[in-house]
Amino acid sequence: MRKGNPYTLTFGKRPKEYISRYENSETVISTFSDDNPVSQTFLIEGIRGSGKTVLMTSIAAEFEQLGDWIIIDINSTQDLMEDFSQRLIDSCRKTPNIFSKGFNISLAGFGIGIGGTEAPKDSVSIIEEILEVLKKKKKKVLITIDEVMHDDKMRYFASQFQIFIRKDYPLFLLMTGLYENIYAIQNDPALTFLLRTPKIHLEPLSINQIIKQYMSTLGIEQSEAKKLANITKGYAFAFQALGMLYYENNNERSLDEILLKLDDMLDDYVYRKIWASLSRQDKDIVLAIKKDNTKVGDICNELGISSSVFSKYRERLLQKGVICSNERGYVSLALPRFIDVVSLYE
Ligand SMILES: Nc1ncnc2c1ncn2[C@@H]1O[C@H](COP(=O)(O)OP(=O)(O)O)[C@@H](O)[C@H]1O
Ligand SMILES: [Mg+2]
Repeated sequence: MRKGNPYTLTFGKRPKEYISRYENSETVISTFSDDNPVSQTFLIEGIRGSGKTVLMTSIAAEFEQLGDWIIIDINSTQDLMEDFSQRLIDSCRKTPNIFSKGFNISLAGFGIGIGGTEAPKDSVSIIEEILEVLKKKKKKVLITIDEVMHDDKMRYFASQFQIFIRKDYPLFLLMTGLYENIYAIQNDPALTFLLRTPKIHLEPLSINQIIKQYMSTLGIEQSEAKKLANITKGYAFAFQALGMLYYENNNERSLDEILLKLDDMLDDYVYRKIWASLSRQDKDIVLAIKKDNTKVGDICNELGISSSVFSKYRERLLQKGVICSNERGYVSLALPRFIDVVSLYE
């Protein structure tokens, strides 16, 4: 990409052109900062490219600013508890006045202190020992896990986390995931406490903010910016991709030509993978939504299914973030230019 372009296609990193999700950030920050938090866990759910990682990272950065928070980023592909204990030790080492002398010695077996006089400790007891100290020092720990999966590692981690919470440690957990993975985790009989975990379902970015950003970065009139903003439908990846293409274009190509390039990017980075994650019936429903606000009755007729069968699929596609419904009895595709791109896969 050309140098100087303020837009990016990089996933997971906070982009230069950032549209704030004030309400979502505020919800998590005020919940976790409360003296008596109603929940010490939050889930961010959304389709690929909707901005989960960026939101989680920016919330974590806000906590970091507050000073009394220690942020621990753990990797969902590792042994979560082991990774947590390692990173907790590393962070505490970097934070002044956390490890007092006596504390050093008691963790000696793990290589924190001065001599190897004690037997090695397991991750859980190390974590508890550290959390005990942090609690006394009025520090709080925020764990972030990106892209949670429903596997044994997560199952073990989540049930242990619940025990930490019961012991009243100042521990908080912010996770992102796809609808299907979060659903599986929340409905695991061993992890029922997660059923009550509040969820942020990522909505489209603010169209108004996008218009303003496009006007100032692309130097275009409001009407043109509005047209572009509506094309993105507020889908975070499309906001970046279209901004990037438009910025690079220098009036050389028509908007239609730019949109064909946008389709290639959507295909390559996100839509192919999203399409592969849908069932046959999901795909058929998507293909039947040929325009915004398609009548549910028309879809049922076309596919020969009853409205009660349809409503089951509808619910799941809504949750996944593939479709949206602004009016009863009508549905639209939530992702920009989705039909144009995916019809080529069939
Ligand atoms: N709030 C935002 N404002 C502007 N661009 C965003 C925002 N959130 C995400 N993006 C952009 O959207 C793309 C996907 O973001 P990411 O957080 O990695 O998505 P996800 O984790 O949901 O797959 C990236 O190119 C990122 O720069
Ligand atoms: Mg991500």
